[in-house]
Amino acid sequence: MEKFRKEKIELDLMVKSTGSKKIKTAVFISGTGSNLKSLIKFSRLKKSPVSIEMIVSDNRKAKGLNFAKIFKIKKKIFSYKQKKFVEKKIIFELKKKKIKLICLAGFMRILSKFFINNFEGKILNIHPSLLPKFKGLNTHERALRNKEKYSGCTVHLVSAKLDSGKIILQKKVRINKQETAKSLAKKVLAQEHKLYPRAILKIFNL
Ligand code: GRF
Repeated sequence: MEKFRKEKIELDLMVKSTGSKKIKTAVFISGTGSNLKSLIKFSRLKKSPVSIEMIVSDNRKAKGLNFAKIFKIKKKIFSYKQKKFVEKKIIFELKKKKIKLICLAGFMRILSKFFINNFEGKILNIHPSLLPKFKGLNTHERALRNKEKYSGCTVHLVSAKLDSGKIILQKKVRINKQETAKSLAKKVLAQEHKLYPRAILKIFNL
């Protein structure tokens, strides 16, 4: 709790110190990028505190990379052969661009403690479950198997432990009797698109 307060103060200070300027943000993706798209649209609103300056992907075939072209945002693709080496390269690029906030949006790699320490309290992730339930993969299948009445999505700060950082916002969705993993994924994803921008507004006290 104490740590989160410190991180929140840091983010508040960041907004104040940059005045009316938007916080330079990078979005990390591996696949479709529908959350990326919603974040880009949000960033282009006047009231948005962030401006997306870079799209990072570990997968050159990620569909979401198309949004780099559509919205004229710099993209950087890193092939993950040696994690330690690749992460150093990513950190270098982020610092060069003065990136102050990282939004993970369907990024399928686990960041090392070393990476996280370089951007402590400045990395957000969106996860398709009501954390702390169903960390990791196949969240919808597991929620159905567990006969949950509700599932949903969570935006949280990234800490060294997988899907365990401080929760910023969650949105619940009801699981119907005839629900399938596919229909649940679709329903949750639609909520993710709204939740991520709201979580960003929340961390900046807006
Ligand atoms: C989302 O469900 C997100 O919560 C999870 O991966 C999915 C990415 O979807 N981490 P998209 O690439 O944003 O469409």
